[in-house]
Amino acid sequence: MQQLSLFDDIAPHPTEQEEIIALRKELEEQNYKYYVLSAPTMSDREFDEKMHRLEALEQKHPELFDSNSPTQHVGSDLGGSNGLNNSPTRGTTSRQSRTGSTDGFEQVTHRYPMLSLANTYSEEEIRDWLRRVYKGLEDVPDGAEPVEIVCELKFDGLSISLWYEHGQLVRAVTRGDGVHGDDVVQNIRTIATIPQTVSAGEGGGLPDTFEIRGEVLLPWENFERINRQREADEEPLFANPRNAASGTLKLLNPEVVRERGLEAYLYYVLGENLPGKTHYERLQMAARAGFNVSDAIRVCHSVEEVMDYIHYWDTERKTLPVATDGVVLKVNSLKQQEQLGYTAKTPRWAIAFKFAAEKQLTRLNSVSYQVGRTGAITPVANMEPVLLSGTIVKRATLNNEDFIRSLDLHEGDYVWVEKGGEIIPKITAVEPTKRASDTKAINFIRTCPECGAPLVRAEGEAAWRCPNENGCPPQLKGKMEHFVSRKAMNIDGLGAETIDLFYEKGWLRTIADIYDLQREQIAALPGFGEKSADRLMQGLEESKKVPWSRVLFALGIRFVGETTAKKLAKAYPSIDLLCAAGVEELQEVEDVGEEIAKAIVAHMGNDDNRRIIERLRAAGLQMESTESSEQLSDTLAGKSIVVSGVFRLHSRDEYKAMIEAHGGKNAGSVSAKTAFILAGDNMGPAKLDKARKLGIPVHSEDEFLQMIKDTTIDS
Ligand code: IVH
Repeated sequence: MQQLSLFDDIAPHPTEQEEIIALRKELEEQNYKYYVLSAPTMSDREFDEKMHRLEALEQKHPELFDSNSPTQHVGSDLGGSNGLNNSPTRGTTSRQSRTGSTDGFEQVTHRYPMLSLANTYSEEEIRDWLRRVYKGLEDVPDGAEPVEIVCELKFDGLSISLWYEHGQLVRAVTRGDGVHGDDVVQNIRTIATIPQTVSAGEGGGLPDTFEIRGEVLLPWENFERINRQREADEEPLFANPRNAASGTLKLLNPEVVRERGLEAYLYYVLGENLPGKTHYERLQMAARAGFNVSDAIRVCHSVEEVMDYIHYWDTERKTLPVATDGVVLKVNSLKQQEQLGYTAKTPRWAIAFKFAAEKQLTRLNSVSYQVGRTGAITPVANMEPVLLSGTIVKRATLNNEDFIRSLDLHEGDYVWVEKGGEIIPKITAVEPTKRASDTKAINFIRTCPECGAPLVRAEGEAAWRCPNENGCPPQLKGKMEHFVSRKAMNIDGLGAETIDLFYEKGWLRTIADIYDLQREQIAALPGFGEKSADRLMQGLEESKKVPWSRVLFALGIRFVGETTAKKLAKAYPSIDLLCAAGVEELQEVEDVGEEIAKAIVAHMGNDDNRRIIERLRAAGLQMESTESSEQLSDTLAGKSIVVSGVFRLHSRDEYKAMIEAHGGKNAGSVSAKTAFILAGDNMGPAKLDKARKLGIPVHSEDEFLQMIKDTTIDS
């Protein structure tokens, strides 16, 4: 947990009933973040420990049984994810309210529920499980049959169920809530190692109708490539390959999925009247039929062999091209599997052993404090460099003051650093035995390390902030970096380094100064020259066409993100109307709560900000909406147009208004009458397919804008 309360240790000990309720709520929330948002905020280990604690408490208190408890069902990925790591998405996770198709994927009921596995981090519990297996098979007539355990790697991706009918791949269903899942077959078809067709008896094995389950993964290499690209595009990074694979699988455009390069390993065959007496035999049949079955599978005959397998792969897995987080043990004989049976959520014939996250002990050298764009202060631990999971680690975030206190961090302490499923290493504990006597506790600073202003901490907030928003250098530079970024004013030729340089030169202090930059001054700078200066001037000119909603986003008002800015710009078509709005009135806009409304009023009420806005207006920026309901031309007269996907330059509603302003008609679905499709990113595959079949042209937003611009000028 990132946010630890200062008062945790003095809070009254909750009763076990309260603890059960709290754990159920917390684990349900984490399931949602993990499966739906692809953005977990708790490590797997912590999640598993809390789940085990809840299981133990529920066993102790059968009177508190609840069939909705997270111990009774598997997590759900229903609700979709658009691949943007930390943006909540559309849809619902409620099982009852979901029918048919949402988020562009058809929802189907699993033929066989998709269960999860019991898991442990303890070798002793693996031995206990094996004892239970032997015991469970002792009293049955076939007990004499030797027990074989198949050991496999536990791949850290998303489970998928592939349905083959008459030799054809017909569906690929996600785990969903274990009972229903989303059919993502179009995306799965992009994985080269998954056969589209299989022939009955191929290689002496599977029939032509069966189901096969496995894990979809994004290999490390592709994960790193995608994150490099996202960094360049100023998109939020994926925390790990699992999250990236999860986001990718829910994308609506299979072409984008293909470019990302997913992979799949298959590990479980199901169906009626399948040949083979053992799990291992069936996997071999699957391998012969062309499925990607891992080579790392071993049939073991004793506890020792199982332990050897676990120890070997704990180290060796680091050389694999994909992420693994443990080992799965399965009873090999299908008859014995049947005899052992299932609990509500997991088979008794299988268990997962999870590898502990790698951790290292190192010395804390100092704590430094970073000031963010909004003035939030983040403490950072500077440590003696140490090798962890293949990379040298010397810095780790300390989150906030409460986190430092909960660690009871002292100067010169030795700390445990872990790198779990996340990219950023974490300090998980202080090593008490290595603390020198008379060391001083780390006390969070009270003044800004950059500008010296006294820090403030609002009630209910974890972060201390520097309130000097128009005078503190990193805040000023951060605001400018945000202003010029791609999703805001998209100013070419003005990156973070250039902003730094111009700041040092004293040319830039506020976002308004950007439009006072002088071409000649820039051209004369070493490393710049005429070309760079022209590029920047051109970028500034182009930015004057950026629509009002993006200018509003670019102003960097606290809490006003891209989506909120669009909604505000629609409700307030000019900056003057927005400036005149009060806190209550603003809250009538969708998604604007009291906190956001107050931040807007405070921003607009600040004299410095008002001066900046006036200078930006004078520079020629769009401070009002150019959207108009009047008829601009009849270029699109009689044309039925479908708008689909996510756009860069205008919102979908803005494009629809433009179509009408130029005489066109908006249509919801593609038909033979459709004149063309105005397509953004991630357009629905069904629409794209239909358009291709009917030979309907697909135009990008740039092409569309060109189309209407030419005629607007003519008319
Ligand atoms: S077998 C009924 N084998 O781990 C047994 N699962 O925590 C079905 N997983 O839901 C699962 N590698 O997504 C199995 N070799 C493997 C696996 C594996 C990864 C995943 C799978 C499962 C989860 C359980």
